Amino acid sequence: MAFSSILVTGGCGFIGANFVRLLLERGYNNVVVLDKLTYAGRLENLAGMGVPIVVGDIGNLELVRHIVEMNGIDLIVNFAAETHVDQSILNPFVFTETNVRGTHVLLEVAREKKIRFHHISTDEVYGTIEGDHHSLETDILAPRSPYSASKAAADLLVQSYFVTYGLQTTITRGSNNVGAYQFLEKVVPLFATNAMLDLPLPVYGDGLQMRDYTHVSDHCTGILAVLEKGSIGEIYNVGAGQEITNMAMLEVLLETLNKPRSLIRHVTDRAGHDRRYSVSVKKLEALGWKAQYAPKEAVAAAAKWYLENPTYWQPVRESSSFQAYYNRQYAKRLETV
Ligand SMILES: NC(=O)c1ccc[n+]([C@@H]2O[C@H](COP(=O)([O-])OP(=O)(O)OC[C@H]3O[C@@H](n4cnc5c(N)ncnc54)[C@H](O)[C@@H]3O)[C@@H](O)[C@H]2O)c1
Repeated sequence: MAFSSILVTGGCGFIGANFVRLLLERGYNNVVVLDKLTYAGRLENLAGMGVPIVVGDIGNLELVRHIVEMNGIDLIVNFAAETHVDQSILNPFVFTETNVRGTHVLLEVAREKKIRFHHISTDEVYGTIEGDHHSLETDILAPRSPYSASKAAADLLVQSYFVTYGLQTTITRGSNNVGAYQFLEKVVPLFATNAMLDLPLPVYGDGLQMRDYTHVSDHCTGILAVLEKGSIGEIYNVGAGQEITNMAMLEVLLETLNKPRSLIRHVTDRAGHDRRYSVSVKKLEALGWKAQYAPKEAVAAAAKWYLENPTYWQPVRESSSFQAYYNRQYAKRLETV
């Protein structure tokens, strides 16, 4: 085993929970999760896994130091973040607090304990991509939302710790993930659950934004490949390596759920909405990794999971906090169409 004891921050969230499951499958049995359990974190995502979960904030230096010392941690994988662009437009400060300052605290503990640090970043740090370019890890960062700006800031801090202190770091920049346990605010589970409830699907603008929809299992195996075989100080993109429009994503979703196109409503676009993301994944593929799902297959698999797991999502849909968010984000937009 490349690592003996792993701290996964944000392990009760969507990708973190899938990654913890992969670690256990691959025989990494000493895994500890640190998660603040924000609205997006759910203990159910790790139900039955037998993994110790510490409920706390990555910004709490004493707590992080204590967990690392008590568990002999030799690798921190940082998934913990505020992750939704629309939330970052409504309430940006918490994004700086967790995504930038929180990451900085983890880096400080990793430096103090001389342990490996892996940071989970996003293709959104490259900003909107023109023409037929596929973002390379060496491209300039041009984030355009408070979310992506906070993620880019964290990437730069991680790189600075590699250069300045010689910390053993790696970064992965994943594209739009879909799959089991994704919180309902994100577009695929939101539209899948709306469709199952015969509610309208509020599509931002013309719906021709291009996204590399990646199955979460491909993202997780990509991260593990970087942990086991990647070069220290390097950054690796992770994605299906091809993109589709949001309208194409919707077609797959409606077909999988056997729901009509008449549910589609084009509503006012998101402010500063990036038109296209696209990553080159050649650098990761050179480590022997390959995505198993094309974007349409990934979306179909995700929609099927929500279809088969109503007891997972129904309580969230019915919660007053989700309904308050949904109304704030979409009620006015839907009124005017
Ligand atoms: N979802 C995507 O499509 C995508 C794509 C690329 C990269 N990423 C990145 O992957 C990571 C995980 O994303 P996700 O979609 O699983 O997010 P998520 O919102 O589902 O989960 C985030 C988790 O972090 C926890 N958290 C938030 N603030 C915390 C804090 N201060 N301290 C401790 N825990 C905290 C939450 O409780 C939650 O469990 C993030 O860093 C995100 O930027 C996501």
